[in-house]
Amino acid sequence: MKRFSVTDFIAKKQSGQKIAMLTAYDYFTGALLDEAGIEAVLVGDSLGNVILGYDTTVPVTLEVMLHHTKAVARGCHRALIVGDMPFLTYHTGIPEALRNAARFLQEAGAQAVKIEGGQERAETVRAMVQAGIPVMGHLGLTPQSVNQLGGYKVQGRTDAAAEKLYRDAMALEEAGAFGIVLECVPSELAARITRDLHIPTIGIGGGAECDGQVLVTHDMLGIFEKAPKFVKKFGQLRDPMLQAFAAYKKEVEESTFPGAEQSYS
Ligand code: KIV
Repeated sequence: MKRFSVTDFIAKKQSGQKIAMLTAYDYFTGALLDEAGIEAVLVGDSLGNVILGYDTTVPVTLEVMLHHTKAVARGCHRALIVGDMPFLTYHTGIPEALRNAARFLQEAGAQAVKIEGGQERAETVRAMVQAGIPVMGHLGLTPQSVNQLGGYKVQGRTDAAAEKLYRDAMALEEAGAFGIVLECVPSELAARITRDLHIPTIGIGGGAECDGQVLVTHDMLGIFEKAPKFVKKFGQLRDPMLQAFAAYKKEVEESTFPGAEQSYS
């Protein structure tokens, strides 16, 4: 089956069809998302929180992102794989940003990259697109700037902040981005941006009017006790996992596992 491409992404918006995107950080999850027909898989730097246990995404390095993107790419043959460029890998100049972005496509098997930021990143986006690297933007709550934003808060709530976010979205489209993640943005603002852009918006706490949605897979599977307000738990895997671990421990302790069926004579 043909891989979902960035042009399919835009065609979906034009035909009014919604886009489903989820995160993966490993081969197994990538393969399952692919099998389920999820169109786009984001190897998000949220792996810093979800997989590595950091408080923020700031400590995540390029090498770590490439390592996980390679694993996901081994499992995904149909979905568009978007590699998230981590903190300070696209801020220190266009040549370095290009070299780092290219590694996601050349070495790791992604078809696109995602970067955070608006007008201040437009020239970087333009250079990447001109080099043949599809770029997804990310506006609103941009976790790599958490230290500047003063926490994980809804963005674009004042008139001035909403206007800036709107202009950022227009600048990213003008620079050639093929889509924009809108994270923790009031639904009315996300709807206005979605209406005025030709490229799709992908919401995460951006309301139902976005052209698609993305969630952190571990959140939507209900693996963690706590999740942000915008998460819907489509699964409740935490308790069955805890129960399975406890049942295993008990059987090992009682010597009921392994039984004859799991043993060799
Ligand atoms: O890193 C990530 O998973 C993301 C999504 C939350 C959009 O950027």
